[in-house]
Amino acid sequence: MCGIVGYIGNEEKKEILLDGLQELEYRGYDSAGIAIIENEKLNYFKAIGKLQNLRDKTKDYQSSGFGVSIGHTRWATHGKPTELNAHPHLGKFSFVVHNGIIENYQELKTQLQEEGVHFLSQTDTETIVHLFEYYYSQNSDSFNSFSKTIDRLHGAYATLLISESSPDTIFFAKNGSPMLIGFDGDDIYFASSDTPIIGRATEVYYLEDGEYGYAKNGEVKLFDKNGEKSFSTKPLATDKAMAQKDGYRFFMEKEIYEQSLVMSDTMIGRVLEDRIDFEELDSELFEGVTNIKICACGTSYHSALTGSYLLERVAKIPCQVEIASEFRYKEPLLRDDTLFITISQSGETADTLEALKMAKREGLKSLSICNVDNSSIVRESDRAILTRAGIEKGVASTKAFATQTMVLWMLTLYIAKLQKTISQDRLDIELDAMRHTPKALLVTDKLHSKLTRLSKRYLHGHGFFFIGRDLFFPLALEGALKLKEISYLHAEGYPSGEMKHGPIALADSELFTIALMPKSLHYEKIKSNVEELSARDATILAISPEPFELADDFVQTIYDTHPMLEFFEMMVVTQLLALEVSVRLGNDVDMPRNLAKSVTVE
Ligand code: AGP
Repeated sequence: MCGIVGYIGNEEKKEILLDGLQELEYRGYDSAGIAIIENEKLNYFKAIGKLQNLRDKTKDYQSSGFGVSIGHTRWATHGKPTELNAHPHLGKFSFVVHNGIIENYQELKTQLQEEGVHFLSQTDTETIVHLFEYYYSQNSDSFNSFSKTIDRLHGAYATLLISESSPDTIFFAKNGSPMLIGFDGDDIYFASSDTPIIGRATEVYYLEDGEYGYAKNGEVKLFDKNGEKSFSTKPLATDKAMAQKDGYRFFMEKEIYEQSLVMSDTMIGRVLEDRIDFEELDSELFEGVTNIKICACGTSYHSALTGSYLLERVAKIPCQVEIASEFRYKEPLLRDDTLFITISQSGETADTLEALKMAKREGLKSLSICNVDNSSIVRESDRAILTRAGIEKGVASTKAFATQTMVLWMLTLYIAKLQKTISQDRLDIELDAMRHTPKALLVTDKLHSKLTRLSKRYLHGHGFFFIGRDLFFPLALEGALKLKEISYLHAEGYPSGEMKHGPIALADSELFTIALMPKSLHYEKIKSNVEELSARDATILAISPEPFELADDFVQTIYDTHPMLEFFEMMVVTQLLALEVSVRLGNDVDMPRNLAKSVTVE
């Protein structure tokens, strides 16, 4: 996730870009940059870290009078957060900003290098500006060169390009990443979302995938694969707070809906045709490793538990999971053939960070799975895999959990291939299922309204048990945590086979059981456990692709062939249930009582 802003007009461009980027900083803040052409001359500034650094760097620069301008705030995917890797990327006479991932950049880069082009950064984005200039050197036609460039790109992009070859024009294209165009008289704005242009533009056009074109002289020319097309604008919202949530009521709700999209970001460039690749890893990290230990807290601990099932079952490597606050004081025995993995959304959780430091002192190799680049945990680890979920604002974690779990699934396949514990046939099946995950995460209106309706029956009672087996036990733990965090109702996650060893004593009609009943993993066993509860009059909400006649309430899922697809689909159901119960109880969904997004105290 990165943020883009663009502007053509007579206003002070630097301020428009910096204020706009401020609104988009939640999309990433590894580095930021702006480029402006005025009086046919290019100027640019870049700074690593938060936007304030760029503000400080540009404080003496002024840019009033007519000009074109583009800006970017970055969330690193290819290449470290350095100034060279910061956008805008420059060619000889042009600049580009880009959000998304160009999947075929390596191929394009090699071709351009063979033509003698020199690259400055490690990013995929830089190929865009060089490709544009390459075509321009052949035909001296800026728009033609831009269209040809766009034609060559595979993957996701929202991109803006300015060039001294057309100093009064901004070229734009969108495919898979968000971008809109704002209008106010002859002034034209571009942005990744509404908020940077609210209060400036009055009309807006939301670009569709496959659209591209240019803005010049107060006009926008729009094209797609069929040629030039007309478009109509609509009035731009005026409420900024609402716009930040993209029209959703809460950040948590927005983040639940975003999961499908961010999951694609997590996989891009990593899920290849016949294997998993992590540019962050190499075989050296795994040399001599015969064991894995994962340490985390809260939701991240639940993804770790899920990962441990996958790592042992599929990669055949022993794996233990520890709650970081327990690990720190248990005087653990650590062996140096253990790879120590920490998982954290924020990368700042004190207990997890301290556990990592302990493991490092004992000489263990370390890997972190984290959503925030440059965070303390990432900096402390030997290697890091970023989850690419984008900034998560809701205190109740949703998309971070989904992407952590996906990274662990990918890591499992990566290690399995490396250690030759998986056949190519099995690997192909896993990769195929993986590619279906974004679909399994889609929230339909039908599903959401069903859970809104059901939620009114679950506002009281003396407790909730979320139950599941195997991979669905950690999901049960996570479902229960989500509900208790934002509803303040008591909820527990339990392995369904364990209920008869005690908790079943609680069963009566006021005990709500949320039963995770996947078809592809131990269905008959779970069914018997749920029947035992039903026989004791517990109220059952069953989530399953298979109709279950003893259920008091039933949510039917679609996927039934691969456990992980069932996992992700059921995860969304539990998240929506927690959300809707919380809404009905009138709680603060995004900032529930007593909690904080980042727990930096032990
Ligand atoms: C999740 O909904 C929580 N708010 C919480 O459990 C969180 O997962 C935990 O505090 C760990 O945070 P981290 O992932 O940032 O390390």
